[in-house]
Amino acid sequence: MNIGFIGYGNMAESLATKWRHKHAVCFGGRNSQKAKALAERIGHGARYGKEAVAVKFGDIVVLATPHEAVFDAINAAGGPQAFAGKIVIDINNPVADVTNDDYTTKTYPAGSLSEAIAARIPEARVVKAFNMCHADVWKRDSPRFDGRNLVVLYCGDDDSAKRTIASLIGDMPFDSLDLGGLRYARLLEPAACIVIKLLYSGHDTLTVLNLLQPEKKPVAWQGATADADKPRR
Ligand SMILES: NC(=O)c1ccc[n+]([C@@H]2O[C@H](COP(=O)([O-])OP(=O)(O)OC[C@H]3O[C@@H](n4cnc5c(N)ncnc54)[C@H](OP(=O)(O)O)[C@@H]3O)[C@@H](O)[C@H]2O)c1
Repeated sequence: MNIGFIGYGNMAESLATKWRHKHAVCFGGRNSQKAKALAERIGHGARYGKEAVAVKFGDIVVLATPHEAVFDAINAAGGPQAFAGKIVIDINNPVADVTNDDYTTKTYPAGSLSEAIAARIPEARVVKAFNMCHADVWKRDSPRFDGRNLVVLYCGDDDSAKRTIASLIGDMPFDSLDLGGLRYARLLEPAACIVIKLLYSGHDTLTVLNLLQPEKKPVAWQGATADADKPRR
């Protein structure tokens, strides 16, 4: 697959480091020279250019700017039309104000940053993923943490897009767990802020919330009102 990144920072580098062996990658942003520098470090024929170049290139587009810049970056890439039909991965954590020790999440009328992004680019298929761990985790060679594979949570409204993301997670190779519809970004965003708060208080960058078992186990579910609210294991 072709994967375009808007942004050429830590997360773009970590994710591309894992995916470059199997997929073609392109970095785009406001400074083409910085995009070029990352493309050269990544190798494997990685491409680069402005935001619009990366979006046009990608079957999958990773929004890898600071969360405050996401909507400007979407505009710089050509606006909603440029994203029509694309799978868009929202990796961003809208943490309120780390400089003032506020590790809560920003609030959005849509419910979460992911949902706000989906409202801005309605013809894209938005998936929230890769927001829960530091960039050092994503580029780590081993998927093992405390004796078991890292389980990567993701959510989105389009099943086909989510299968693609699960496949990318498997390429890294981590285990994947579908949390449900995009509204569950309302849980993933503050969950990541727990990790961010720990990191800012001095915890190791490999700190993860890896509490989950990906494998299917027989569980008697009680009180669930809709299939969509049941975890897919
Ligand atoms: N770092 C982590 O460990 C981590 C983990 C999980 C999720 N995340 C999330 O991932 C996102 C990216 O984090 P990061 O650590 O990769 O950030 P980063 O290293 O600071 O890189 C940010 C990138 O965004 C670009 N950018 C900034 N403002 C822009 C704008 N207005 N338009 C277009 N591009 C712009 C920067 O380019 P310039 O150099 O030109 O400014 C840079 O390439 C954040 O939302 C963060 O919450 C980060």
